Amino acid sequence: MASTSAAEHWDGIYGSKDASTLSWYQDVPATSLHLISAAGLGPDDRVIDVGAGASALADSLVRLGYSSVVLTDISSAALALTRQRVADAVDYVVSNVLDLDLGPAVMWHDRAVFHFLADPADQLRYAAVMARHVSSGGYAIVATFALDGGEMCSGLPVTRYSPEALAESFEPEFSLVESCREEHTTPNGSIQPFTFVLLQRNSQP
Ligand SMILES: C[S@@+](CC[C@H](N)C(=O)[O-])C[C@H]1O[C@@H](n2cnc3c(N)ncnc32)[C@H](O)[C@@H]1O
Repeated sequence: MASTSAAEHWDGIYGSKDASTLSWYQDVPATSLHLISAAGLGPDDRVIDVGAGASALADSLVRLGYSSVVLTDISSAALALTRQRVADAVDYVVSNVLDLDLGPAVMWHDRAVFHFLADPADQLRYAAVMARHVSSGGYAIVATFALDGGEMCSGLPVTRYSPEALAESFEPEFSLVESCREEHTTPNGSIQPFTFVLLQRNSQP
């Protein structure tokens, strides 16, 4: 999907539905918070949440005292929803993740964005963008639908991953630190299994 039509698709969703009714909605992003805590970040470490949508991760990070959080998404409508809750406590960047150039961060977080990239060239480009943004020794959390998860999300096809295959997508720049499975309960009560990986950026030569 070209960037403009992707932006229209996502703006249409966030503009027409209550965010708390969307299948990926979480009150508390518990697995993300667990993995961010496992990485042992300091409060001033820069965190970039890509495809942040209207996620409550920003609210949690602000409450925990993180002072350098950047939310980025292809949908300005999604980010506008978060701005209503946390205002200027975080920064907002409307962009296709494949075009990001935000400078270095200690943590890259992606829940349910990478899995929309079907073209291997886009997957490689994403991995290169992620590697460019994460400093040596820094971390990335990437979450996708698990192998037994749904084949579609928001009406779009997704690629499903095992922890090993997901981690492999980011080698050799990143190494797997920890993985977990989350059985997300959607607002309509169905179960959506996710694969989460916590990766660490290897030293750059
Ligand atoms: C399934 S939602 C997940 C939102 C959020 N990460 C969460 O966990 O609630 C996917 C998000 O990715 C965004 N998105 C989709 N494709 C994107 C792309 N190529 N670049 C940036 N954001 C994208 C959408 O606008 C949407 O907010």
